[in-house]
Amino acid sequence: MEETATIRLGNENYDFPVVTGTENEKGIDIRTLRQKTGYITFDDGYGNTGSCESRITFIDGEKGILRYRGYPIEQLAESSNFLESAYLIIYGELPTHAQSRDFSTKVLRQASIHESMRHLFEGFPNNSHPMAILSALLNSLGCYYPNLATNDRDNDLKYFDEAAVLLLSKVRTIAAMSYRMMRGLPLMYPRKDLGYCQNFLHMMFSEPYDDYYPHDDIAKALDLIFLLHADHEQNCSTSTVRMVASGGANLFASVAAGVCALWGPLHGGANMAVIQMLQEIHKSGDDGSKFVQAAKTGKGARLMGFGHRVYKNYDPRAKILKAACERVLKALGRNDPLLDIAQHLEDKALHDPYFIDRKLYPNVDFYSGIILQAIGLPLDMYTVMFSIGRMPGWIAHWREVAEFSKGRIHRPRQVYIGPALRNYVNINERDAAGSA
Ligand code: CMC
Repeated sequence: MEETATIRLGNENYDFPVVTGTENEKGIDIRTLRQKTGYITFDDGYGNTGSCESRITFIDGEKGILRYRGYPIEQLAESSNFLESAYLIIYGELPTHAQSRDFSTKVLRQASIHESMRHLFEGFPNNSHPMAILSALLNSLGCYYPNLATNDRDNDLKYFDEAAVLLLSKVRTIAAMSYRMMRGLPLMYPRKDLGYCQNFLHMMFSEPYDDYYPHDDIAKALDLIFLLHADHEQNCSTSTVRMVASGGANLFASVAAGVCALWGPLHGGANMAVIQMLQEIHKSGDDGSKFVQAAKTGKGARLMGFGHRVYKNYDPRAKILKAACERVLKALGRNDPLLDIAQHLEDKALHDPYFIDRKLYPNVDFYSGIILQAIGLPLDMYTVMFSIGRMPGWIAHWREVAEFSKGRIHRPRQVYIGPALRNYVNINERDAAGSA
């Protein structure tokens, strides 16, 4: 028999179908609730609201499970790489040799940006945040490829493959160029002989007179960071991309909005905030113990890089990054006092009833910053790295909306709590009332 849920309002019972996902996740389908009852559901922050059906990523937050298209993140981190996982996320299957070669070649060929885009960088003040630049330039890419960004869904889907590789490739070039432009450094063009991450590091750190060849472990660590960020189902930025896409906007406009949503410290901006927090703790001479106490009062800063809306267990990405962090620092023969503080903070928090009761564990941002620091990236580029990594997810979700959402715009309801009906008061009467 079909499973249903019954809602009782007054003396009336209303039945609603239960929907079940591939992994036996259950939801109550309340799409006819308002029509049948006049009521809506209220779910501030959407903690209990399924906004769509999706085939891309599965998370079981209670068990600490993350899978892209069914493949466990641990297996992908061990055996795949960013571009291969990007292909998987976007197209649903791991590529064959031929598909993989073709995809990498297309990504490589799209690495340069139109020369006139340089002038867009020049319009920004030198202290501009690279996330603002990234969002603006990703959106402006649509102006350079107007046939890929028409807001005519059939057309934009027809050219989806081209737009997808273009964005995957150019996001990295724009990121590196914003870094160099803001510092007055000569721009470095991509090279044919370098892979995805090597090319990015070359565009960041090479000089016209001195090629930069990253240590193998550095390029691998960056690839791993990108791979681990590649998708995370309906997070704030991806939901933003889907929201913008639902109105019919093109892929470029949608991912540019995703960058803005990612920027905040509760979302992608947390990787930067973690390092700022660790640096402050280090400067103050604390080993983290005092900070953990302060984070519990609700008055001091939060323990950044801890807690998650979905994970009520160790974030599997954080587990992988913690091990990678130790590996990279060892390979580079470096000691980072911030890693010691982070490990101490984690140990303290995981044994503290406040964090245990609220099921707060390290999330992906807790250890990624230490690796980004070891790579030599400046703090304000950390969230840009998150954006490069998240690009495949945003692209795949845009496509899912464009292909499968039956053209339904995303438009939540609200519970209005403002003033009830009142009559307009003439400005003279308002003045008179004010001076009385
Ligand atoms: N430090 C101290 N207390 C915390 C923290 C934290 N990092 N996170 C949550 N809490 C407390 C919170 O004060 C609340 O306590 P109480 O029940 O006494 O009011 C309880 O735990 C539940 O927190 P919440 O704010 O209702 O949880 P949420 O699901 O709305 O927020 C979060 C999730 C990630 C925004 C939050 O945990 C947080 O602010 N963490 C720090 C920022 C961070 O690391 N963000 C990156 C998230 S992972 C990358 C990504 O996908 O964006």
